[in-house]
Order: sequence, then C-alpha cells, then structure tokens
Amino acid sequence: MHLTQLDIRQVRNLRDVQIKPCQRCNYIYGDNASGKTSVLEAIYLLSIARSFRTTHIKHVISFDHSSLQVFARLENNNFESTAIGLERSIKKSRIRINGSDVKQVSILSALLPVQIINPDVHKLLEQGPKYRRQFIDWGVFHVEHGFLQAWQQYYRVLKQRNAALRKKQIKKAITLWDEQLIQFAKRITHSRENYLLGFLPIFNQYVEKLMGLSVEIRYQRGWNPDHSFTETLNSAFDKDTFKGFTSFGPHRADLEISHNNILVQNSFSRGQQKLLVCAMRLAQITHLKKETNQQSILLVDDLAAELDIQHRQNLIELLVDTEAQLFVTATEQNSFVLPPEIESKMFHVEHGVLKEVVQ
Ligand SMILES: Nc1ncnc2c1ncn2[C@@H]1O[C@H](COP(=O)(O)OP(=O)(O)O)[C@@H](O)[C@H]1O
Ligand SMILES: [Mg+2]
Repeated sequence: MHLTQLDIRQVRNLRDVQIKPCQRCNYIYGDNASGKTSVLEAIYLLSIARSFRTTHIKHVISFDHSSLQVFARLENNNFESTAIGLERSIKKSRIRINGSDVKQVSILSALLPVQIINPDVHKLLEQGPKYRRQFIDWGVFHVEHGFLQAWQQYYRVLKQRNAALRKKQIKKAITLWDEQLIQFAKRITHSRENYLLGFLPIFNQYVEKLMGLSVEIRYQRGWNPDHSFTETLNSAFDKDTFKGFTSFGPHRADLEISHNNILVQNSFSRGQQKLLVCAMRLAQITHLKKETNQQSILLVDDLAAELDIQHRQNLIELLVDTEAQLFVTATEQNSFVLPPEIESKMFHVEHGVLKEVVQ
C-alpha cells in the first residue's frame, strides 16, 4: 500500500493541505517552523491515531479549532484503492474506511504500516523497555495475524491479577488468573522470539552496511529463562503481594542491544545511535516486505541531523532500496542526491502551505 492522495486539515499550522504523493520518494523541504514535521505527524496520525510528538491531541489540532482531519487514498500492488480518514477532537476519534465507520485503530494500522526516523531516535535505545517492546510488537503485529488479540488478552488478565494483588485478596483469588496468564505469555513470547529469528539476519546486514560493525540484539523475556514462567510466578508470589503487581512476564520484556558486550546506550555516539536505529527500522520494513509483500511508509524527519554527508548518502540509498514509500524532510533543497532512476516528487513548504516543485 502507498498513499496516492493526502489531505490534511487543521493539523498544527497546516490548515488545508492537499497533495498527491508519488509511490517512492517524496522530498519535503522548507525553513524552520514551516510545517515539515507536521506533514509527517499527519501521516503518522492516520496510521495509529496518535502523534509521535505529544500524547495530548489538543496540541496537534490547529489553534482556534476543535478538531483535525486527515484523509488519504491508498493503492495496493493490484491498483485497488482504499479511502481512509481520521477525525480527532479532544474527546472523540472517528475512523472511516471506504465510507464506513470503524471502531478499532488496529484496522487502520494494519492497512498502513508506518515507521518513523527522526532526531529523537536515540530514545529507543536510551529510554525504558516499553519503547523497545513497542518496536518488536510493531513487527510481530504486522506479520502475524492473531498476535494483537493474544497481546490484548494477556494485558486484560494481567490487569485483573494486578487488581487482585493490589486489593490484597486471598491467594486463591490471585492465582486464579495464572493459568490464562501463562497461556498468553507463552504465545507472546513465542511470537516475539520467532519474529526475531527472521528479523536478526536482515538487521545484521544493515548494521554492517551502515556502520561497518556488528551489534548484538538479545531478547529478554521478562523473567529468568532458567525457570519456567509458572515457577517464576509461584516463587515471586510473596514479592508480588507485597508490591501489589506482577513483577515478571512479557510485560517486562526488553531488547538488550550491545556492541562488544557493552550496551550501546552506554558506548555509542548520537550519530552511531541514529544509524543503529535506522538499521533496526530498515530491517523491520525489509522483513515485512519479505514476509507479507506489504510496502511500508517511512517518514524521515530531518535526515541530515547528526549525520555526515557520506553516512547521509549511504542511508538514503538503503532507504530507497527498501521500496518503502518515503517522506523525507530537510531544510535545504539539496541535502542529498537521490538515485536518478527512482520516481520522486519534491514539495516546498512555507507557512503551512505545500507546493509541488516541478523538477
Ligand atoms: N496547534 C497549533 N496550531 C497552529 N500552529 C501550530 C500549532 N502547534 C505548532 N504550531 C506551529 O506550526 C509550525 C510548524 O511546525 P513544524 O511542523 O514543527 O515545523 P518544521 O518541522 O518545518 O520546523 C510552527 O510554526 C509551530 O509554531
Ligand atoms: Mg521539524
């Protein structure tokens, strides 16, 4: 799937934008504060109904307006088109696919796999495990039907168990949830480990190409692998009762990412961290294409930040090779050279107005 039309209304300073992106590379340039990141934010919103910049939608809606709208037309490999739309106000969210209202955001996300590379990427390595779980779960969600359901069921049972722990209920009322919790934990763990088996060889190649070194990614299940999850729940029972929540399980999983046995967040420069996260995202996109033939949309905000010209050029060539639909922003018209055989469009943005630049 790729976008053939994109209409944005009331997203930050973008009051009424209508563009027809091309299938491969869309280059958006403009001065600071002209609205470049907001264009990417609008596409991201359309995929998961949330912003990557803030958890408060009111900051994304244009000043003196009460809602925003993003609409797009998508086209798949067979030239079949789908119309999708999102309207968000502070209280409500409305999703439409081909004219019908849809309740779950996941249906939208499944249609539109969107990845982002922006100057914040190092946060994936430096911040808490939640972000790395989101990273891996994005991949599993898009390649494995049924994963989302297992994930939601796990969290529903976990919530019940934690509520019982918090209320200091009797042991039987707490362990009542264990059987289901164990069953869904197995499913999630298996799916994530299985995903990594396919992902890692592709990732290793990208790291080598981008950085000329090797990086090790190890999945940490969220409990000591020398013991089963059942044993872990049993032996942690007193601790869990004391704390009022379940201390171990896939909700505590993490990715341990290291180079020469040192965690990369403690040893890599910002530029290296950016290249590493690019390799992770590129590998996800390539893996998804390989497994499901699905084309991703890749948003690259301020590609030039933290990268010297050689790495920048190297990166853009690998981005283009993934066959993802790219939306790349820059402050200059010529931040890098696109391979000439690649279909591309250029847009100039000024005070929230986008104009296609005919090349
Ligand atoms: N809710 C809002 N309503 C209107 N304008 C906004 C809102 N939030 C931010 N802006 C403005 O939108 C402009 C575009 O921001 P941004 O997309 O981040 O620019 P760029 O990425 O080109 O530097 C900025 O001038 C910013 O002040
Ligand atoms: Mg910006």
